[in-house]
Amino acid sequence: MASIERPRPPAGVHTPGRAAIPARHLRTDRWWLAPTVTVVVLTAFVVYSTWRAFANADYYAAPYVSPFYSPCLASDCVPMRGGADLAVFGPWWGISPALIVLIFPLGFRLTCYYYRKAYYRGFWSAPPACAVAEPHARYTGETRLPLVLQNVHRYFFYFALAFAVILSYDAALGFRDPAGHWGHMGLGTLVLLANIALIWAYTLSCHSCRHIVGGRLKHFSRHPVRYRMWTWVSRLNAHHMALAWASLVGVAVADLYVYLVASGAFADPRFF
Ligand code: FES
Repeated sequence: MASIERPRPPAGVHTPGRAAIPARHLRTDRWWLAPTVTVVVLTAFVVYSTWRAFANADYYAAPYVSPFYSPCLASDCVPMRGGADLAVFGPWWGISPALIVLIFPLGFRLTCYYYRKAYYRGFWSAPPACAVAEPHARYTGETRLPLVLQNVHRYFFYFALAFAVILSYDAALGFRDPAGHWGHMGLGTLVLLANIALIWAYTLSCHSCRHIVGGRLKHFSRHPVRYRMWTWVSRLNAHHMALAWASLVGVAVADLYVYLVASGAFADPRFF
């Protein structure tokens, strides 16, 4: 039987029953600053990452691998990791292997609870800030396509965990010299270590992670290990916004560093 679409009740601040305030809002602070910064930083990141993802070049400068291209799953990736490459697909005939790999970390960030709030406010003004009316006449939240798909975030979390493990391995490989001998360190090692530390902190501070670790329990007292882990994740979770921005900048800086070294624009200083 075909479902009957019931008319939705009117929504928004100008509906009957709400206080009739002619001004769009009564805020006197610089509420527009946060959404403006969001638009500027996210736009810059999208432009930079799109350029790098399509470049299909300068993503490996022994022993450093760009996080945008890891794991490199195509057989026509440049040889990396001393022969321990993960070439599970054939050649991609010139198509950048970053395009498939980036779907997962990008999906994780795009569906992140914090980023959703940030880009809904920054790009869609829905609403632009607390106590500032949005310009749209109707509000359906995330109850309809395509926004209802944001619920896949919890599944992207598992992919994000796998990527964090792989990038940890890449960061460990930074302790080799360009010839593959262990026990060395360069500035790039520190850049990759900082990047992976931020990625782990951002991933483990995820709201889905907090729910997976400590959700659906009736009695914390009967699950002391999960309770302890939940308190750790909760402490990180309180900083999720800051970690979201820091890890976004961290991953771009790590890629830029590898690009500069791989393209010959910068010589990686080696400490030992
Ligand atoms: Fe932000 Fe999960 S809520 S990464």
